[in-house]
Amino acid sequence: MAASWEPEVGALLEEARRTFHKEFGSAPTLAVSAPGRVNLIGEHTDYNDGLVLPMALELVTVMVGIPRLDGLISLVTTSEYADEPRQVEFPVPTAEQPLEPGMPRWANYVKGVIQHYPAGPLPGFSAVVASSVPLGGGLSSSASLEVATYTFLQQLCPDSGAAATRAQVCQRAEHSFAGVPCGIMDQLISLFGQKGHALLIDCRSLETRPVPLSDPGVAVLITNSNVRHSLGSSEYPIRRRQCELAAKALGKKSLREVDMKDLEAGKELLTKEEHRRARHVVGEIQRTSEAAAALSASNYKAFGRLMVESHNSLRDDYEVSCPELDQLVTLALSVPGVYGSRMTGGGFGGCTVTLLEADAATRAMQHIQEQYKGTATFYLSKAADGAKVQPL
Ligand code: GLA
Repeated sequence: MAASWEPEVGALLEEARRTFHKEFGSAPTLAVSAPGRVNLIGEHTDYNDGLVLPMALELVTVMVGIPRLDGLISLVTTSEYADEPRQVEFPVPTAEQPLEPGMPRWANYVKGVIQHYPAGPLPGFSAVVASSVPLGGGLSSSASLEVATYTFLQQLCPDSGAAATRAQVCQRAEHSFAGVPCGIMDQLISLFGQKGHALLIDCRSLETRPVPLSDPGVAVLITNSNVRHSLGSSEYPIRRRQCELAAKALGKKSLREVDMKDLEAGKELLTKEEHRRARHVVGEIQRTSEAAAALSASNYKAFGRLMVESHNSLRDDYEVSCPELDQLVTLALSVPGVYGSRMTGGGFGGCTVTLLEADAATRAMQHIQEQYKGTATFYLSKAADGAKVQPL
């Protein structure tokens, strides 16, 4: 069985260019791309000032377009977003008339970045968005759209901000225009991913360190459960709040400042649930640090063990897994040649990530597909670069 392969960036750009021509009657002059991501380890740690270890994917969102002089922004997407219109037009925001979230929902990610963009004045523009990142699959389709928008706006009106500010602008867009109080991981990796490397990100200092991941004998298999439980969106802010309360009760700024000894010593200051949530976060930050060291030493077995510990902690202490993700992990772990497997992203559906011998990939996909109670989709992606300007 073959994994679903993403269209080449070239093919996606071609699709966007064709659509642009059809919709706007001319050729686009600007093109950018921004990748989705998979997080190898370090889950629900970013908003606790912790460590994360994601890699950028070969799955990308592209944006092609041209500036225009009439002060309007006209957007078209080639993706299917339920029953939402694929086209929307609105004026360039001003101090008196800022942009506000509305319908179609997909455009809110674009609008949010425009509204928070730190340079100006922006001209109007027409643009087409096309993406190979599965929508709502936990591979950061939204961050890739935000980062593609930011990179596109940089072509229209260069920013002078620090690199990390770009990620923060995109994060703010998601908070205020999509209502998701996400951390900073997805935007940072979509901006700064490096081909052949995972990126160890310290979400407190925003420093990043590339960790080589280009051994041809090793593969990263992403398995989409193709389920998305609605609980996810309501539980995410609850987890975030519980972590903040736990840190506060322990007298710390964030759970990054807490170690297992502090946590056990302060156990009576926390509710049982807060204690379990904090135990996941504190343990996960430690695991991520160990996993980065294991990957640097090509110790895939140790890395795999940490992935499994991460999954178990997300399932039992953080309670963000679901039966489908648990089944996919169990199935992957029963395949010879698999080092480790875990849920990835926010949870309650979406994808698992599996580190395995490259030779074992076909066997793993076959086994999972035969045994999984739902329908799985597979992606075998190498670690890719972050956002870039694309030639047209
Ligand atoms: C979502 C958020 C990220 C991060 C993960 C969990 O993907 O967007 O910021 O918190 O969940 O690790």
